[in-house]
Amino acid sequence: MAEVKRHKVGIIMNGVTGRMGTNQHLMRSILEIIKQGGVKVGDNEVIMPDPILVGSLSDPRNPKALEELCAKTGLEKWSTDVEGTLENPDYPIYFDSQSTTRRLGWVSKALEAGKDVYCEKPTATNVEDAYKLYQLAKAKGVKHGVVQDKLWLPGFLKLRKLIQEGFFGEILSVRGEFGYWVFQGEPGGQPPQRPSWNYRKEDGGGMILDMLCHYRYVIANIFGPIKSVSCLAATHIKQRWDEAGKPYKCTADDAAYATFELENGIICHIDSGWMFRVRRDDLFVLQVDGTKGSAIVGLRNCLVQSADETPRPLWNPDIDQPIDFFAGWKPVEGEDHYDNAFKVQWELFLKHVVKDEPFKWGLLEGAKGVQLAEMAIKSWRQRCWLDIPELKA
Ligand SMILES: NC(=O)c1ccc[n+]([C@@H]2O[C@H](COP(=O)([O-])OP(=O)(O)OC[C@H]3O[C@@H](n4cnc5c(N)ncnc54)[C@H](O)[C@@H]3O)[C@@H](O)[C@H]2O)c1
Repeated sequence: MAEVKRHKVGIIMNGVTGRMGTNQHLMRSILEIIKQGGVKVGDNEVIMPDPILVGSLSDPRNPKALEELCAKTGLEKWSTDVEGTLENPDYPIYFDSQSTTRRLGWVSKALEAGKDVYCEKPTATNVEDAYKLYQLAKAKGVKHGVVQDKLWLPGFLKLRKLIQEGFFGEILSVRGEFGYWVFQGEPGGQPPQRPSWNYRKEDGGGMILDMLCHYRYVIANIFGPIKSVSCLAATHIKQRWDEAGKPYKCTADDAAYATFELENGIICHIDSGWMFRVRRDDLFVLQVDGTKGSAIVGLRNCLVQSADETPRPLWNPDIDQPIDFFAGWKPVEGEDHYDNAFKVQWELFLKHVVKDEPFKWGLLEGAKGVQLAEMAIKSWRQRCWLDIPELKA
């Protein structure tokens, strides 16, 4: 049997002790790739990640958290000397899933050190900085990628297939709702499900910055380029309790009501809230209405109703509604198995780095996400519609 050619790729993973870093990037992506024997790139060729977990001492939870994570995962390499690791040529890739305000500084350092970079969104807290990261990566001639995970969720893959097949006819509008109730963490109550920095603007928190980065790539890749945005946001819940059980003032928006006009005329509207109680199919649901049919798209499932199956409602509040509007939608069949969306994008990035395969979700796309968030914040402050200027490649 032919010998398998292995491309061992060292990856510096920073911020991997956090919620996203541990669950999505380490456990469900990199470790799964290692377990499956690497990313197959030919009959006898694989890419094998070789991670080192890093975290600077500015987070007092390091190094204990790093050591514990190694023990839990069976990995051996960790370090609190992030700068020193950046100088090590055994690790050509730098990955960052630290809390948002730390991204600019560390991704810049990694780019300066000539590393290929893969990182979480938002890439920065403002478009100027996000665009600077793109320009630096371009100047350094390195490869770069930004997490755009929702594109590989089963529900969204099914939606894209429906669009390709022409199911919708002309798409008219897309309406979405995202979010759930995040517990405030008051003594004696339920603990919060998200980190406290999410609710402090000064620490990079805020619904608009968090979610509009996602909506930018979902809308632009699936429905078309965004022409303009109008957004109203609010900090509905004024006080929460942090990880230490101490009360703090919420300074970031926890809900955003955003409308996007696309260049092709489609109108998208997405409501997002960390104080919504869920009565819908999933935590993020889009309804797509077209001339020939409509779809309800969740994270994993997708339901459709064609023009022929559309009920004929009549307005009569004097009788109970005779139509069961939740019936009459059919599930879209999919594949038997879908890989984790973060893992799918990791594999594509690793192939991009090692085999030079195309990868279009780089720091410019990341900057466009931050730009949309920034324009939405401006629209909210100025109470007006704003057009999105082009960010040049
Ligand atoms: N793609 C997605 O769907 C998605 C979802 C949630 C969050 N995110 C993004 O992922 C990033 C991390 O979010 P999270 O929820 O995992 O946050 P988290 O608070 O759980 O983790 C933050 C990480 O940053 C590190 N860090 C924070 N302050 C530090 C300091 N002073 N010194 C050294 N290290 C420090 C922590 O050690 C930890 O590893 C954020 O940018 C967030 O916007 C993306």
